[in-house]
Amino acid sequence: MKIALGSDHNGYRMKEELKAFLIEKGHEVTDYGCHSEEAVDYPGVAFAIAEAISQGKQERGIIVCGTGLGVAIAANKYPGIRAATVHDTYTAERAQLSNNAQIITLGAQVIGIESAKKAVEAYLNVTFDPASRSASKVRQITDREKELFGSGKMVEESSRSACS
Ligand code: RB5
Repeated sequence: MKIALGSDHNGYRMKEELKAFLIEKGHEVTDYGCHSEEAVDYPGVAFAIAEAISQGKQERGIIVCGTGLGVAIAANKYPGIRAATVHDTYTAERAQLSNNAQIITLGAQVIGIESAKKAVEAYLNVTFDPASRSASKVRQITDREKELFGSGKMVEESSRSACS
């Protein structure tokens, strides 16, 4: 799977460990930074990954900051992007199955690396079912977003499937 990976300084170490883990599992990982523990503002990394997903260049995104919250808030500003903060295997799996989240975010100050690896694995092991009961709920969110902001730059399913 084509995975966009990123972090701020608080998530840097976890991001590096997840990168090695994902590559070992055979995924095609693109690292959107940061590249050291030097302080960096988290929105830029989240925007870069949200944009790559929006453009169909990446299938899934994983972003780490201190709490997982700021990067999710930033990524969710992109039309059609659904970024969910997850803390364990259950929330990670549901982020995909219930919410069709293209991005999960993790808090390096909240969970340990082994829990993060398991959560990432749970997230990547499942695929949203467009025929499931969750689909109409996700569609309601997308439709509302279109009503509020227009549909010019929405992520369409066609662009997502282009790289799967
Ligand atoms: C540091 O900028 C901290 O705010 C960040 O890592 C993250 O937790 C934000 O939500």
